[in-house]
Amino acid sequence: MLLNPLDRRHRLRYDIPVVPGAFPLVGHLPAIVCDLPRLLRRAERTLGSHFWLDFGPGGQLMTCLDPDALAVLRHKDVSSSLIAEIAPEILSGTLVTLNGSAHRQARDGIKAAFLPRGLTEAGIGDLFEPVIRARVQAWRARGEVTILPETGDLMLKLTFYLMGIPPQDLPVWHRKYRQLLQLIVAPPVDLPGTPLRRGRAARDWIDAQSRQFIRDARARSARTGLINDMVSAFDRSEDALSDDVLVANVRLLLLAGHETTASTMAWMVIELARQPEVWDALVEEAQRVGAVPTRHADLAQYPVAEALFRETLRLHPASSLVPRRATQELQLGQRRIPAGTSLGIPLLHFSTSALLHEAPDQFRLARWLQRTGPIGPVDMLQFGSGPHVCIGYHLVWLELVQFSIALALTMHKAGVRPRLLSDAEKGRRYFPTAQPSMKVRIGFS
Ligand code: HEM
Repeated sequence: MLLNPLDRRHRLRYDIPVVPGAFPLVGHLPAIVCDLPRLLRRAERTLGSHFWLDFGPGGQLMTCLDPDALAVLRHKDVSSSLIAEIAPEILSGTLVTLNGSAHRQARDGIKAAFLPRGLTEAGIGDLFEPVIRARVQAWRARGEVTILPETGDLMLKLTFYLMGIPPQDLPVWHRKYRQLLQLIVAPPVDLPGTPLRRGRAARDWIDAQSRQFIRDARARSARTGLINDMVSAFDRSEDALSDDVLVANVRLLLLAGHETTASTMAWMVIELARQPEVWDALVEEAQRVGAVPTRHADLAQYPVAEALFRETLRLHPASSLVPRRATQELQLGQRRIPAGTSLGIPLLHFSTSALLHEAPDQFRLARWLQRTGPIGPVDMLQFGSGPHVCIGYHLVWLELVQFSIALALTMHKAGVRPRLLSDAEKGRRYFPTAQPSMKVRIGFS
């Protein structure tokens, strides 16, 4: 594992062990990025359920593998402002970093647009369907694709459509968005031509465009899309918030839904390629219904596609770990945690934990198809929990079912199925977003 062999000291911080093997400056990041599951298992075996991991510039986060840690996400004495400290350039001021009433106010302003009714009224499923279909048809024609860059590109297009960005502006948005992403890893060197300088310029450009969109939406110009709905809901909300909050959240929406969904979509295709019986079940369902769904009300007809979406996310959760800070002393499993402690809640660990799931490492559609109870917080922990639970949950569910059914109908009609052409385990990443390698190839034959 990518740990520093020179750091073997056994150290304690607030009486909790620090995982050995940190490198100067980058801490445990190399192992966190490349091998998080094994790192967590090894730490649990050698140090117990509570330990510190070093995220380099992101600081040290106390990680707890006791399922109690999930409840922390709903606890009133934790704050997500730590996220703004870790990624100040792109996330400060956004919903995910706010707390308490400021968070509620900002979230209330936009949440309706993301609920099934809001999505249906805005016609999001009808907007997405032709874009998804065109993309899978292009894959069919090519016969072979590198899956993650493809799903990344498709998701970016869907996200831009969702926001109502005019098609002719997509290339420049694409470029600015890529530059914005550089802010996540940019070294702190502010000189002309550096990633930091370019990233900030791209962020300011995107923010200025969003501000103009918001003005247009107020002026009731012909533009459609989620920004319009958000602006109207926002203006109707009880305490009018400043446009800065809305602008920051448009940026958050661009970021939050892109890599997470692209990664899940890519894993879905990989799982379909390595499990012929799952592909057959999906094709059978797609044939029986005979169409790609466009509204939430349609989704009940697609239990296999829904199970595929849930099981893919369970085995490959895109958000592996979410940061929080304790604002008061907390009880966490068997330990008291002092106020001010930075915490990393390892969603990845719980998503495949034997304490929460039977045969956790097996891909089983049956665990969803045969269940009788409603979906609860543990079943969707990949989307977080509590006040910050993912706002895009219903949207992702719709688009991933649309995607899998479009894929099944298109490929089946052409008499082909997905096949894995390279090692899907090699080069996978676990942080900041968990994803398969950029190089995994899928053939359709
Ligand atoms: C498979 C896809 C996705 C996964 C696994 C995912 C996961 C998550 C997780 C774990 C959180 C909680 C973060 C925290 O508590 O700190 C979150 C929050 C959020 N997600 Fe997603 N997400 C996905 C897709 C999307 C999409 C498509 C959108 C919107 C277009 C979106 C928008 C958001 C927003 C705005 C928040 C912050 C909510 C708040 O702080 O109140 N996500 N997501």
